[in-house]
Amino acid sequence: MVSNTMPAEGQREPAAPARNNFSPGLIPHALEPSTVKAAAIDFGFYYGAFHALKGVNLPIQEKRVTALIGPSGCGKSTLLRSFNRMHDLYPGNRYEGSIRLYPDNTNILDPRVDPIEVRMRIGMVFQKPNPFPKSVYENVAYGLRLRGEKSRSRLDEGVEEALRAAAIWDEVKDRLQSQGTALSGGQQQRLCIARCLATDPEILLFDEPTSSLDPIATGSIEELISQLRSRVTILIVTHNMQQAARVSDYTAYMYLGELVEYGETNQIFLKPGKQATEDYITGRFG
Ligand SMILES: Nc1ncnc2c1ncn2[C@@H]1O[C@H](COP(=O)(O)OP(=O)(O)OP(=O)(O)O)[C@@H](O)[C@H]1O
Ligand SMILES: [Mg+2]
Repeated sequence: MVSNTMPAEGQREPAAPARNNFSPGLIPHALEPSTVKAAAIDFGFYYGAFHALKGVNLPIQEKRVTALIGPSGCGKSTLLRSFNRMHDLYPGNRYEGSIRLYPDNTNILDPRVDPIEVRMRIGMVFQKPNPFPKSVYENVAYGLRLRGEKSRSRLDEGVEEALRAAAIWDEVKDRLQSQGTALSGGQQQRLCIARCLATDPEILLFDEPTSSLDPIATGSIEELISQLRSRVTILIVTHNMQQAARVSDYTAYMYLGELVEYGETNQIFLKPGKQATEDYITGRFG
């Protein structure tokens, strides 16, 4: 997909089947290694002395939606941000274990791997839409320019393709030069998704992408997520159980910095393996 952003050969680890690293107790069904796009393996994270994530083993299935659920403060955002090395921006933060990207088996936490390249392969959409204070066109062209694209016609094509993929082309095609920040909240969120898609990422991370939107805009983002799964692997944090059940194929329940249970969404919602998961899903938590 984006082979020019992959780390040099010497920075990659030898290929190994991902599932060998997982605790069998957490994974109720056999996963074919070829369908695992990424995995957190014995992963931990510290904010200074605070051990925010412990021993997380989580596979991310290719071209599927994985939902991260759990009570406030359990570490969902911390885990999501680790997948595109956001914590590097602050001193005192420390990762342990690895987060591997397949099929090249790159440990994206390896200090020799450039975080900018990681962020091209793994894009992030935030809770609050955050378009740049630039035109709609320039918001989407940004990543293409960063990659060195100068041809006007290729930029035009890339911008249109990404806006179409984010299901917002028809709404903005006549106002590409308007400010991105002048769009509605739902449109801004789709613009931010288009901005990510322009660089053809392998994984998209969504941190509560609809929590600031009304039900109609929420519905359009959920529909978009369902469409995008044919093109990109998705990891989404949500507090909305109905949303997790609607949009995801796999669900991971976290509590106090640990992964409590992971499985197919149907199984997690209909027949959770742990009482703690059931209590959370049915609202008996706390
Ligand atoms: N920058 C930081 N420095 C120190 N501790 C932090 C920092 N950010 C988060 N934490 C702590 O790490 C833990 C996990 O936080 P995180 O934001 O990942 O939770 P969350 O599951 O996303 O919660 P929410 O559902 O409220 O968004 C919490 O105890 C939080 O207080
Ligand atoms: Mg959060």
